Amino acid sequence: MGKQPPLKHAVIPAAGLGTRFLPATKAIPKEMLPLVDKPAIQYVVEEAYSAGFTDLLLITGHNKGALIDHFLQSPELEQTLHARGDQERLGSLQKLNMLPSLHTVRQESARGLGDAVLTAAEHVGDSPFAVLLGDDLIEPSDLLWKKMVQVYEEFGGCVLALMEVPDSEVSKYGIAKVTYESEMRVHDLVEKPTKADAPSNLAIIGRYILSPEIFSILRHTSTGKGGEVQLTDAIATLARDERIAGPVHAVTAEVRRFDTGDRLSYLKTVVEFATRREDLGPEFTTWLKGYIRGLND
Ligand code: G1P
Repeated sequence: MGKQPPLKHAVIPAAGLGTRFLPATKAIPKEMLPLVDKPAIQYVVEEAYSAGFTDLLLITGHNKGALIDHFLQSPELEQTLHARGDQERLGSLQKLNMLPSLHTVRQESARGLGDAVLTAAEHVGDSPFAVLLGDDLIEPSDLLWKKMVQVYEEFGGCVLALMEVPDSEVSKYGIAKVTYESEMRVHDLVEKPTKADAPSNLAIIGRYILSPEIFSILRHTSTGKGGEVQLTDAIATLARDERIAGPVHAVTAEVRRFDTGDRLSYLKTVVEFATRREDLGPEFTTWLKGYIRGLND
């Protein structure tokens, strides 16, 4: 421990246009869509804190108001709940107020994930930092972060989280070319390749540890897939030449990933989260089973 500069910053991009969810995301970011009664972004912010990051930077976009309000104190609501004696809801709001320093910066126009991460340059400065994509939920994430931080401590450079996906899904992700040494080493990455161009079935899930050199690479990264500046392309530049910023490693872990940015995945996530709830779960599950039986008739 302690061989590498400490990791304290976590950057959470939540600045996409959310076009797949229009019109719901016209005025609110997709990361504010609720999973039952908690917005997706709150899960990700809580994950960053429990992984040990103490300085969080939310990258917001054109409709940032709701995101910022969500993490601000709300004295009027709190007073009302207090007056009603609703301790449970009051507690859930106060939990949000206790979140340590959460900063925000606005990405001027949605030019892609790489450009969003670049807006963190001034805040993060010359330190290594984590990136957690605001619409990707990972469960359980503790073990994943523990492994990522361990690999970072040992080798420095960058560390990515990868997950094996079927052939039919490689075109949805950044895909890694890896070799297996003492740890998994990344040599190249391709953003959303066709099956024929995919170097493996190992997909980037939305968790990264990046070295600050990524910022100068991003400044010189031209637009890639979808006409956007891709974070994957910038990391690929580092992976191809370890002289720039050390090696790029990757870890895989037995985790589940919920993509809340895609409508079908979002619906599945809401149903699963609802069935697991202690308060709503039993009644919801009973209803759901009956509903499904009805569909089969
Ligand atoms: C982004 C990244 C992609 C990564 C994915 C994980 O894509 O560009 O490399 O695999 O997140 O969720 P997006 O889902 O924003 O299109």
